[in-house]
Amino acid sequence: MCGIVGITGVEGAAGAVYKRLKLLEYRGYDSAGIASLSDGGFSLCKRRGRVYSLGGDIKHLHGKTAIGHTRWATHGKPSDENAHPHIFGKFAVVHNGIIENYAHLKDKYFSGVEFNSETDSEVAVRLLQHFYDGDILSAVKKTVKLLVGSFALVIMCSDFDGIIVAKNKNPAIIGYGVGANYCASDAPALAGLCSEITVLSDGDIAVLTSDEVTIYDGDLKRVVREKIKNPALASELDLNGCPHYMLKEIREVPQSVTKTCDAYVCTSDKLRKYLKGIERIIITGCGTAYNSGLIGKRYFESFAGIPVEVETAGEFRYKQPIITDKTAVIAISQSGETADTVEAAKLVKNLGGKVIAVTNSPYSELTRIADAVVPVEAGQEICVAATKSYTGQIAALYLLALTVAGKDVADGAKKLYSVSELTKNLIEHTDIGSLADMCARSDGVYFLGRDLDYAVATEGSLKLKEISYIPSEGYPAGELKHGTLALIDIRTTSVVIITDKSLAPKSENAVEQILSRRGKVAVITNLKDVAEELKEKALILEIPECDKYLSPILSAVIVQLLAYKTSLLLCRDPDKPRNLAKSVTVE
Ligand code: M6R
Repeated sequence: MCGIVGITGVEGAAGAVYKRLKLLEYRGYDSAGIASLSDGGFSLCKRRGRVYSLGGDIKHLHGKTAIGHTRWATHGKPSDENAHPHIFGKFAVVHNGIIENYAHLKDKYFSGVEFNSETDSEVAVRLLQHFYDGDILSAVKKTVKLLVGSFALVIMCSDFDGIIVAKNKNPAIIGYGVGANYCASDAPALAGLCSEITVLSDGDIAVLTSDEVTIYDGDLKRVVREKIKNPALASELDLNGCPHYMLKEIREVPQSVTKTCDAYVCTSDKLRKYLKGIERIIITGCGTAYNSGLIGKRYFESFAGIPVEVETAGEFRYKQPIITDKTAVIAISQSGETADTVEAAKLVKNLGGKVIAVTNSPYSELTRIADAVVPVEAGQEICVAATKSYTGQIAALYLLALTVAGKDVADGAKKLYSVSELTKNLIEHTDIGSLADMCARSDGVYFLGRDLDYAVATEGSLKLKEISYIPSEGYPAGELKHGTLALIDIRTTSVVIITDKSLAPKSENAVEQILSRRGKVAVITNLKDVAEELKEKALILEIPECDKYLSPILSAVIVQLLAYKTSLLLCRDPDKPRNLAKSVTVE
């Protein structure tokens, strides 16, 4: 959470930082700021609001070195004062993360001193100045040694025309240019600018000047870090004529499925080796990743007969999980950065277990921890709401479960290809307008289903509440009568997903129970007779028939389109929902 950028060696560096910060707004967007360094002094522009609110004011920021920040507030409300950079004495700092012991540090080193902001971050800039005796690196070393928590810090000192980056637990990358060097939270910020990057490791301190990058460990011993090709492509950041990233990314669902298939085939042998002899699986992740785990559970249990538990990473990491050498933990994360998921994976490793990462981010923290990686090839996902990464995760889990079961992966890939084709059609031809209108006028929207349909219901609900702010829940259809039915009245809409013939009569009972309480109902189904039976009573959205295990991909696209359209009807910004950020790197 929070996006940070630093540039040194570029004329008008502040303008360049501004442009790059905009590409990182998915990491947080409640306030923004840029500071530049010229003639040994700082100029600053920061305020509450999005990066564009800095607009014309940054033309007053001169110099070839600048740092910038787009914030997701943790300590201190979104405000001009709490926006980064924070400047004190000879230092300017932007920070991503949480300094957990900031109150203690403040008491110990600055008792009675009034700070300019309510942030935890300000303590870092104060400490830098406190320890500075002309040796910048020594001040940085002393400061970071005191910080407990997570941080990616980008630092300028007015005595030095360059940038210093310090990293612990939060991501930081270095980008190499010609006569200029860069740093950022994430590769997309440097897409089209740096073809080579270095992903910093925890404890690293990097010093950037216009023509050199030197990396040290926490004790200031020089270390060598690998340069890799920048995985982010500028073309992927283009909206391609779509009004929002969310729509663009839903349209990319078909290719996220096929590309994930293609990538999987290359890694399946290695994965087979890792999973040989496994008797129990635990799947963990957060939000959408957790929801795709619910689908994965069904695949492993049905195809391979292996018992699976699915736990949100935030819960799992604080339990005392029983991990044996026959347990595999599958950690799912689009970003590979989510703090709870990364910490859960570390816990498993500490307990001697195996971790398989299912991720869309090949160079993330999670991939470094994992024993094996199942790639999700969704491409860059910018919208805060996950869409194409969810369907990519489903495809990856499906193939992984076939591998574990010793079944024909090529046949599975063929089925996924054909579902991908159906998805293309569905996205193009589904008219979601009436259902979105029903939802937009409702006080509550309930998503119901059984078995795999229930798993998609949880995701439909998450998507809708996340970007429309309508209260919503996803329930197993059978649970309705155990409490939720009390919420049903004329002002509610229930979206019932019915794709399994054997369970259809049971889910139809739920529809009748809702209708009897005057609730409005929509049904997403691939069963002709269900559509026929309910067409007078409910709004029907038909999806094509396909392999029963893959219908979640098709119904997922419908609930994603529904959330998108409802959000627009309510004049929300689907790409940047309130209070949220894409990568949740704090607890
Ligand atoms: O990057 P991750 O997959 O680990 O992110 C996990 C969740 O934060 C994420 O899926 C979140 O729930 C999405 N915004 C949902 O659309």
